[in-house]
Amino acid sequence: MNNMVIPEHIAIIMDGNGRWAKKRGLERTEGHKVGAEVFRKICSYAREIGVKHITFYAFSTENWKRSKNEVDKIMELFRRYLDEMEERQGENEEAGYNVRFLGAKEGLPEDIVSMINVVESNSCDKDKMFVNIAVNYGGRDEIVHSVKKIAEKIKNGELSPEDITEDMISDGLYTAGQPDPDLIIRPSGEYRLSNFLIWQAAYAEFYYDDVLWPDFTPADLDRAIEAYNHRNRRFGAV
Ligand code: IPE
Ligand code: IPE
Ligand code: MG
Repeated sequence: MNNMVIPEHIAIIMDGNGRWAKKRGLERTEGHKVGAEVFRKICSYAREIGVKHITFYAFSTENWKRSKNEVDKIMELFRRYLDEMEERQGENEEAGYNVRFLGAKEGLPEDIVSMINVVESNSCDKDKMFVNIAVNYGGRDEIVHSVKKIAEKIKNGELSPEDITEDMISDGLYTAGQPDPDLIIRPSGEYRLSNFLIWQAAYAEFYYDDVLWPDFTPADLDRAIEAYNHRNRRFGAV
């Protein structure tokens, strides 16, 4: 990664777990298990190369449509990860991870919400790398959530509609205070956002890859960053 500009914020749609498993004649949930390991690996590699903010799309507001068995197994994987984060709190502190969960906590099992709260508060004063994990996350849901906060202020007479700004909407999002993603990576050969960071992606660079998430390696991340280095970002200027 010598001489490469490292994007300040990389966001990844961890897709293709089910197809990876199917190709091997395994249950879809086996793909999620391997995908969860890859998530850990890519997260620590990103830290090594100096990524400051990284966001992983782990479970969408639409993913509840899947079978109960699949959803339960995915929730079990979150529990395992959260447990591990607590167990390894010393290590994580040293690594300087600031971990945040993006998404509606209300819809998640209560025990998971409590574990999330512990992990977030244990790491909230760290700043080596901001790790966002999007769980029960939907971009539209997030915007509605932000707009409701603004509406509340208007109702209380603290704000008038003509004074609403883009920053106010950004400040009400789960990513409040963090920069917008510079690079959004989607493996598995799909070319869509699937309700991921739809507000924040306004000027993001997109990188698509046919590799399925469980096969994704640090070398794939390097390739995405290299491609990013060849982009010419204009932000509407000439
Ligand atoms: C992504 O992999 C993980 C989640 C959405 C939870 P998928 O489960 O969507 O895998 P494919 O797209 O079916 O292969
Ligand atoms: C997006 O993948 C959500 C996550 C990776 C968590 P999906 O597999 O749910 O997206 P679609 O259904 O292919 O658009
Ligand atoms: Mg998918």
